[in-house]
Amino acid sequence: MRQRVAVVYNEPIPSRYDRANEEKAVLGVLDAVKAVEEALRQLGHEVSLLPLVPPFNVARQKLAALDVGVVFNLFEGFCGEPETEVLVPETLTELGIKYTGCRPSVLRLALDKAAVKKVLKKSIVPTPDFQVLAINNLHDFKLDFPCIVKPRAEDASHGISADSLVRDFRSLERQVRFISDSFHSGALVEHYLGGREFNATVMGNSQCSVLPISEIVYSLPPEVPRILTFAAKWEPGSPYFEGTKVVCPAEVTVSELEHISKTATSAFRLVVGQGYARMDMRMDEVGKLNIIEVNPNPDISPGTGAARQSKAAGMSYAEFIGEIIELALE
Ligand SMILES: Nc1ncnc2c1ncn2[C@@H]1O[C@H](COP(=O)(O)OP(=O)(O)O)[C@@H](O)[C@H]1O
Ligand SMILES: [Mg+2]
Repeated sequence: MRQRVAVVYNEPIPSRYDRANEEKAVLGVLDAVKAVEEALRQLGHEVSLLPLVPPFNVARQKLAALDVGVVFNLFEGFCGEPETEVLVPETLTELGIKYTGCRPSVLRLALDKAAVKKVLKKSIVPTPDFQVLAINNLHDFKLDFPCIVKPRAEDASHGISADSLVRDFRSLERQVRFISDSFHSGALVEHYLGGREFNATVMGNSQCSVLPISEIVYSLPPEVPRILTFAAKWEPGSPYFEGTKVVCPAEVTVSELEHISKTATSAFRLVVGQGYARMDMRMDEVGKLNIIEVNPNPDISPGTGAARQSKAAGMSYAEFIGEIIELALE
């Protein structure tokens, strides 16, 4: 059915990422907006765009003035303030306006990777052992090396480089200090799993389905850590970018496929529940699969994992976007 749809997003503005030369990750939202707008028009919907800038009370008035059947939510939070991401779905819920993707409680939870891992740890869905460490409690460290040290509350591989893999206490201390200084939060220290890396997009509400799975395939010199670093995602020409390929559908056996899909679906049911999310997963050295990260409302621009996966499922991009709208209206 033809709908009036507003595409709501954060207008990119200068932020703390500019200094770190990390603005590319931030500008990505505009690719998604353009592609989603076009797809919605192709599907016959009446589309308007609503870019939001701070302060939120002004943005809120704009949301309240909407006269639409559904909002396509591409709002990732105001630039440099990821914690504001939840304000849009929260406000739309209050206003009784339907929106695509995940609930605000899920987006809030996922802002803290450690909080998501706590939920997983209480379930049967495996996730690597972890600790949140800062310089003043480093002596509490009790995991086995090697470990990876990540920001607790960032995404898009911000703060992830070859140095994130630590094999001894000195490099652990160095990386925890780096994370604390750069991101003003404790560091998430996790046992490092060196096996195959996959991701899967799960979509649904009470019923959910998994799109074809992607594998991150590394062809890097042996001494270079197999990690999807910031360079691998965002810096064409860098050794990491050139040495990292995404293969979709992943070359896996039928039973591996079943197990990966089941693990992704279990994590979706447990943590997300409705909308769409990408599950980042990795095997350990003996092939046991773990959930590395749960990404509610992942990037769906053409060229990203989710778009590639929907294509592998035989959908056009417009059909994929249409599916997301259907789930919102369900
Ligand atoms: N415990 C881990 N073991 C092995 N590799 C990891 C682990 N955690 C993260 N990585 C690597 O770092 C990348 C980024 O980590 P992730 O937790 O997905 O954060 P982001 O939000 O930046 O995507 C992953 O895609 C993976 O390559
Ligand atoms: Mg990830």
